Amino acid sequence: MTNRAWDGTSYDRISAPMEVMGLKVLERLELRGDETVVDAGCGSGRVTQALIAQLPDGHVVGVDGSADMIEAARTRLGPQSDLRVQDLLQLDVADVGPVDAILSTATFHWISDHDALFRALRAQLKPGGVLVAQCGGAGNMSHVHAAAHAVGEMPPFAQYLDGWDDPTNFYGPEETEERLLAAGFSDARCWLVPQPVRPPDPVEYLSTIVLGAFLQRMPQELRRPFVESTIAGLGEPVTLDYVRLNIDATA
Ligand SMILES: C[S@@+](CC[C@H](N)C(=O)[O-])C[C@H]1O[C@@H](n2cnc3c(N)ncnc32)[C@H](O)[C@@H]1O
Repeated sequence: MTNRAWDGTSYDRISAPMEVMGLKVLERLELRGDETVVDAGCGSGRVTQALIAQLPDGHVVGVDGSADMIEAARTRLGPQSDLRVQDLLQLDVADVGPVDAILSTATFHWISDHDALFRALRAQLKPGGVLVAQCGGAGNMSHVHAAAHAVGEMPPFAQYLDGWDDPTNFYGPEETEERLLAAGFSDARCWLVPQPVRPPDPVEYLSTIVLGAFLQRMPQELRRPFVESTIAGLGEPVTLDYVRLNIDATA
């Protein structure tokens, strides 16, 4: 399942920068309007909502490993929406599949085994179906993560982070293309794009999205001081050095 907890309500409130990036990915997905599409790691459903709007005669399945995110997505998208709590490594939408396309934004870097992930996604696509995705790629957040680790080496935080490494997986384009082909995709193209973001509310943004995996290791009263110390190390204006790995692949 997910390797960290998510607060779906907070994510929905502050994830406008993620939505902007996600909608650029959705633009790459060519749709007639009657396809069946999975949003893999749909979160609170902001990008899913735009996907649904493009499929008046189609069907969208939003899948996420976090029940809290799926609950937030149901609030946003309504009770009739097809939203499922599922681990993408065990993705199974056979009741509506095989599907025409899988869209995924800002999710794959939270999953460590990309070989298994791509095999699981490939298995749900019809021949000729497409995977259009984006996630953190090589170099993503290196500045932010260096600041967080520097703070994490100091007391009182060090005792909670000692020996722990941040569970993100930021891969490069070539190795990802190789993995996709090995997983059974017939064609794969991947590329990196730097996308710096200035979050409107840096404390909530870093707490909910970027530093969540650090914070869940420490007691509640240390979480805000950890985030504020990390932000102090970033300088002004607070800029997050996102680097996105884009994926276009055909089954
Ligand atoms: C940063 S959010 C992205 C949400 C949305 N796609 C967007 O662009 O705003 C990452 C999502 O990936 C989900 N996730 C992480 N690992 C997962 C897994 N193994 N299976 C299913 N979902 C997973 C998390 O629960 C979270 O909702």
